[in-house]
Amino acid sequence: MQEIKAYKGDIFHFLDDADAENCNSKNQYIENGMIVVEDGLIKSIGTSNEIIKTLPKGTEVIDYRDSLIVPGFVDAHIHSVQTESIASYGEQLLDWLNGYIFPTEKKFKDRNYAEKATRFFVNELLRNGTTTAAIFPSVHAVSTEVLFEIGFEYNMRLIAGKTMMNRNSVEADFDTPETAYSESRQLIEKWHGKRRLSYAVTPRFAPTSSEEQLNVASLLKKEFPGVYVQTHLAENKKEIEYVKKLFPWSKSYLEVYDHFDLLGDRSLFAHSIHLTDNEYQRIRETNSVVVHCPTSNLFLGSGLFDFKKANEFNLRMALGSDVGAGTSFSMLRTADEAYKVAALQGEKLPPLKSYYLMTLGGAKALSLSDKIGNFSIGKEADFNIINLNCTPLLEYRIRTAKTLEEKLFALMILGDDRAISETYVLGKSMKGFTKA
Ligand code: GUN
Ligand code: ZN
Repeated sequence: MQEIKAYKGDIFHFLDDADAENCNSKNQYIENGMIVVEDGLIKSIGTSNEIIKTLPKGTEVIDYRDSLIVPGFVDAHIHSVQTESIASYGEQLLDWLNGYIFPTEKKFKDRNYAEKATRFFVNELLRNGTTTAAIFPSVHAVSTEVLFEIGFEYNMRLIAGKTMMNRNSVEADFDTPETAYSESRQLIEKWHGKRRLSYAVTPRFAPTSSEEQLNVASLLKKEFPGVYVQTHLAENKKEIEYVKKLFPWSKSYLEVYDHFDLLGDRSLFAHSIHLTDNEYQRIRETNSVVVHCPTSNLFLGSGLFDFKKANEFNLRMALGSDVGAGTSFSMLRTADEAYKVAALQGEKLPPLKSYYLMTLGGAKALSLSDKIGNFSIGKEADFNIINLNCTPLLEYRIRTAKTLEEKLFALMILGDDRAISETYVLGKSMKGFTKA
């Protein structure tokens, strides 16, 4: 028996052929619209008046009149093992990792702790309207196992992989190149492609992997062509100096990853702040993806992501919250800070481009736009019900907003989890998981 439901509200999404440049025109806003979902997939979309005539008799219509219906948000970089360390005071990247993060991540070797913390993490994603995420668990295979179990249970589209790290901290738990290989392989064989889950080979960053371990990452990428690669790149100036010292043969940070053949169209490089033109060029040539993590970059004082360069080199790009260095799970907060990071450099990030990056653009960067990112017929029905009146201030501001663009901008600057009144994953309301 196929399940059909219809959802009524004001619909906003980007069309399949939208890109970062043309997203101002390639979008669709349907006031009083309706989407129909059958077995978790988009069956039709249009004005409520049109669509209602086509519904099979007895179809349940859920009325979100006065709300905005948008695709689920995409967070292209976040850690499932750092929630407890969000908002930790005072340090830049390397000291912050040693002082706060590695000790917290150690707790994830215990399945019981990992289950509770990871469920809280996933619920928090959903409460903020994030339905797709690329995630770093800890070095312990069980932390990834638990994340995939919950993603499987919730039917979410998640990309994740056990963090590989085998050197350079007295505070951390480590794997070895051998266990990194065998555990990653086991996890790939068990989870990659199961329901909506995908695996990412995840060397934490160059400083915590030996050359032998980066070789192992490379080998896994070759042996399993559909898997992703995710890591951190050029986030902090001291980190970059450290990489130079550890890999004296390398001409740049990116060259370390390049040397081990870790670049490609499924490779996600978080931060990518302090890059040379050669590095931008190489990211472009290999079709790799940069993930801009503005709340994290500001919080750790890492630096300002250079939109101008990213555009000049026509890079594939997504947004990431990077919690626990990031300060919010909300992609609205993330886009707000991205706007300010651009403003600090005399650049303007158009509001529709931010929404594009949060939805279809994020999906394209993760090579998932055939499945998610908008409401094209046949796509997976991940969507958010947005309440534009969720706070007195937002309601007050929206009242005088004349255009849709103005409203969306105000939502992004003033909104957060309070704006997400309900989140649907594959056509199923996640209210039970998101409301305590
Ligand atoms: N570089 C290596 N590990 C991390 C991490 O956990 N967070 C951030 N922001 N940068 C990193
Ligand atoms: Zn990170």
